[in-house]
Amino acid sequence: MDAFILSPSSFSILFLLTIFQLSYARDDFHFTSCPPFDCGSLSSVSYPFWTDQYNRPSYCGYGNEGYKLKCRQNQSPVMTLSSQEFYVLHLNRSHGLLTIKRVELNNTCPQTILINNAFNYTETAENITLEQVEIPIGKKAFDDLIGGISTVNESLLEPFDIKYFAYDDYCKECEDSGGRCGYKQTETSLFACYCRDHPHTTKCHEGGSGSNLGRKLAIGNILPSFF
Ligand SMILES: *[C@@H]1O[C@H](CO)[C@@H](O)[C@H](O)[C@H]1NC(C)=O
Ligand SMILES: *[C@@H]1O[C@H](CO)[C@@H](O)[C@H](O)[C@H]1NC(C)=O
Ligand SMILES: *[C@@H]1O[C@H](CO)[C@@H](O)[C@H](O)[C@H]1NC(C)=O
Ligand SMILES: *[C@@H]1O[C@H](CO)[C@@H](O)[C@H](O)[C@H]1NC(C)=O
Ligand SMILES: *[C@@H]1O[C@H](CO)[C@@H](O)[C@H](O)[C@H]1NC(C)=O
Repeated sequence: MDAFILSPSSFSILFLLTIFQLSYARDDFHFTSCPPFDCGSLSSVSYPFWTDQYNRPSYCGYGNEGYKLKCRQNQSPVMTLSSQEFYVLHLNRSHGLLTIKRVELNNTCPQTILINNAFNYTETAENITLEQVEIPIGKKAFDDLIGGISTVNESLLEPFDIKYFAYDDYCKECEDSGGRCGYKQTETSLFACYCRDHPHTTKCHEGGSGSNLGRKLAIGNILPSFF
């Protein structure tokens, strides 16, 4: 009978072990807070794009305002580039391409899109010069404009592609290792690979998503030594 009654000390060891196991079995919050998300008509969006909707932290995306999406139910998300709003019609992750379209012209002149380390033009865009400012428009829209088939206003509202960067090779390596890409500013890097255990610099340790199992096995090995 005595053997089945837990003494206070063995009870507290069990209690500690439970706490230990719970805290280890839980995935890191960076990892759990950055799953791909649906943003209006775009599904399964992830790094470098982010949104401040749905309680999604900014560290799930690249630390650039340009990559922030405004999600709208069943409609194309909106992004802001060089203070202009664009619909994001299509996302081509494997080639780092975004198909965008100006939201509206209003009475403001459209502006150029600043090319920086986040975005670049592609061969699907051409510049037209309006009031001494170079404005990107789609190549087909450009041809139609030159050919007199469409007006400037119509051309400005045609979609075109832009290229986005943001550590794509790193991100692929991270995802292949079972991690989720994110942003973390350190002295040497802006990229973080969020893994189940904790954030890593480029990719999760060997085994990737299997690392949780590895930890449980390790805990299993510790257990006998307590008894
Ligand atoms: C991505 O872009 C490439 C090059 O333009 C194209 O060949 C490919 O079909 C596109 N993929 C998707 C999913 O749009
Ligand atoms: C454009 O005009 C609409 C309607 O007048 C207004 O709601 C919107 O805020 C304007 N957008 C910009 C970027 O000025
Ligand atoms: C083009 O759009 C601007 C701004 O909405 C407007 O002021 C202008 O009259 C339009 N031009 C033509 C030719 O429709
Ligand atoms: C942007 O594209 C142009 C033309 O394709 C290229 O010459 C330039 O190096 C690109 N810029 C970056 C930052 O990749
Ligand atoms: C369009 O203009 C931008 C900025 O002025 C420039 O960086 C880009 O290379 C130009 N693109 C083309 C296709 O000429």
